[in-house]
Amino acid sequence: MPEEQGGTDQRIPRHVSVVMDGNGRWAKQRHLPRVEGHRRGLESVRTAVRGCGEAGVEALTLFAFSSENWRRPASEVRALMGLFRWVLEREVEALRENGIRLRVIGDRQGLGDNLIPLIERAEATTAEGTRMTLNIAANYGGRWDIAQATQQLAREAAEGSLDPADIGEEAIRSRLALADLPEPDLFIRTGGEQRISNFLVWQLAYTELYFTPTLWPDFDEEALQAAFESFSKRQRRFGRTGEQANALTGH
Ligand code: IPE
Ligand code: IPE
Ligand code: MG
Repeated sequence: MPEEQGGTDQRIPRHVSVVMDGNGRWAKQRHLPRVEGHRRGLESVRTAVRGCGEAGVEALTLFAFSSENWRRPASEVRALMGLFRWVLEREVEALRENGIRLRVIGDRQGLGDNLIPLIERAEATTAEGTRMTLNIAANYGGRWDIAQATQQLAREAAEGSLDPADIGEEAIRSRLALADLPEPDLFIRTGGEQRISNFLVWQLAYTELYFTPTLWPDFDEEALQAAFESFSKRQRRFGRTGEQANALTGH
């Protein structure tokens, strides 16, 4: 596997996925409304996009709104959707200028008729970007992803274009969101909780997990570098022995 270099001899992950957690607690600590934490979290998104782009990361996938986040108070859901809309209207040009291709993954029908055209336009505007792919997971759940892949497989089998005997891991994998990208090498979760919360459950099977108590609005360039640093010290064995893994990576 080719190693991406970011100007140092540190090993840089090709694909980074992030559960951006802790916005609400950040706001609460300051006696501010939760939405203020989400607003400040946007600044960390910009920092992470810039930092990953500069380091040579090929894909960055951010968990913005889970299938389960609809359970929050309606006013918070509205505020989060409003922020997403704002990003789609105001930040896309900057992404295009920086060669970043934006994609939205998740059950888009559930996001409503006013967001869908904005999402389509943002994806079309940035489609030529080659520096980095930025995936925003919105109304996304890892279980939803596996279910939608399964539905596709069933449809193909019913139409006769797929033999059920050919349904194996590769058939499922190739129908999931992000199938055209390498699986995440590094998973970062801010905010102190150590769980996946229904993020990319299939795709994370062999991802290196990194948990930090830092709340997302405080996650700055230095915090990102600390995550890269931790990643670069890990030995990825994929079931092999340490010696075999060393031989494969030439160490
Ligand atoms: C993460 O921050 C953002 C979203 C889930 C949209 P939270 O809002 O979950 O922040 P905490 O966990 O309450 O601090
Ligand atoms: C996960 O955070 C979802 C996002 C960051 C969008 P949550 O704050 O919703 O996760 P739980 O509920 O604590 O597991
Ligand atoms: Mg949370």
